[in-house]
Amino acid sequence: MDLVAALARARSPQEPGPDTPAGPPVRAWPGPPRPLPRAGRGELDLELLLRLSLAASDGSGRLRPAASAGALHPVDARLAVGPGCPLPPGRYGYDPLRHRVHRLAPVPGGAPPGVSVELSLSPRRTASHYGHRARPLVLLDAGHAAAALWLAGRALGTAPPQLRMDGRTEEPVAALHFAPHEDCARATADGSPARAPATGGPPSSGPATAPAPGELLARRSAPPPLRGAPPRDALRDVLATAVEAGAGELGWCAAVGEPRPELLELGPGGTLRRLAAGEARPTLAVWAAGQGWIADAGAVLLGYGCPADAGARRIRRTHLRAGFAVQLAQLAALRHGLAARPVGSWQQADLGAALGAAPGRDWIVHGLALGSAPTAPVPPPAPAPLRPTHPDEKGPS
Ligand SMILES: Cc1cc2nc3c(=O)[nH]c(=O)nc-3n(C[C@H](O)[C@H](O)[C@H](O)COP(=O)(O)O)c2cc1C
Repeated sequence: MDLVAALARARSPQEPGPDTPAGPPVRAWPGPPRPLPRAGRGELDLELLLRLSLAASDGSGRLRPAASAGALHPVDARLAVGPGCPLPPGRYGYDPLRHRVHRLAPVPGGAPPGVSVELSLSPRRTASHYGHRARPLVLLDAGHAAAALWLAGRALGTAPPQLRMDGRTEEPVAALHFAPHEDCARATADGSPARAPATGGPPSSGPATAPAPGELLARRSAPPPLRGAPPRDALRDVLATAVEAGAGELGWCAAVGEPRPELLELGPGGTLRRLAAGEARPTLAVWAAGQGWIADAGAVLLGYGCPADAGARRIRRTHLRAGFAVQLAQLAALRHGLAARPVGSWQQADLGAALGAAPGRDWIVHGLALGSAPTAPVPPPAPAPLRPTHPDEKGPS
């Protein structure tokens, strides 16, 4: 089914059927697995870049630096390695469970210095649980994975990567190019980026200070319930992070409850202003696959847009951006000590129509439930080598 029809079906009230087999959790890359060598001076630390963004850190494969609907992780990564990396130039497939690479082929004409991480999708993993609701979810997941890579680059101190998330293709659906450290050093020295910004270029958003590696490895989604309204300054910061990382693809607002139930958006000068009065959270709970706990969440950040007449390219672009923005917004929330959990499955969630505007224009694309309760401190996983595993566990949601 084409993406336009698939999104319309995912937004319909139709319930998914019983679970189906998820298939292999990793692409069957050919050839022997190779470890990622230690980076030499001036080289891009590929091992750390991938460990902080895509590698599974537990025996089941669930625990990863990027959130994923149902922890089913449908995003696969290929690397196009050029000079300035600790691997010989060429194309590689990445195995996030073993944290190993498989050499696939040379890059025709040679790859530019650094690495391009190309993301593609195995929708069957997500469809195994979500059925016809999977198509938008896998795109959101790819946006989360792209953001995890972007944040890992920041933690490593690389120049901002070129980010390609324009929705033009599904193979790859997104790509990030990281320059080697020599190029970064040059960029810092002359005060300009190492490369021209790519189409749909990198956001300047995200945490004001670079994330620490342990912070990225310790990111977790809080289990429901997520109660307690976040302080206004924290909510403002989470909204501002989403607005900036969303790069104008979506509108953003947050639903809050008592004592003044309303929808808030970012106003001029980064203030919070009222978008609409009234209690939205019980309706959001119904729209989000009937997840009742959302009615009691302290706040719910919402990214909306992607009209009913959007074509495949725009659908991809909007969902990728929404996932990207929510991954960054989750980190911003965790930095404020908030509990946070993405919410990605939305049916009949025509927010614009509910607010009295034209129907079919402003659908909820993604969300982040927030609570004021501090998240239980999670010690960052020890940077020990990753164990090879064969997870087959599925997440609850
Ligand atoms: C695109 C997307 C949609 C999600 N939707 C929901 C949801 O509707 N309800 C929910 O409880 N969790 C949802 N989650 C959170 C995942 O269940 C969670 O990320 C996963 O279990 C892995 O846990 P972790 O984030 O702690 O690593 C979603 C996550 C993503 C990335």
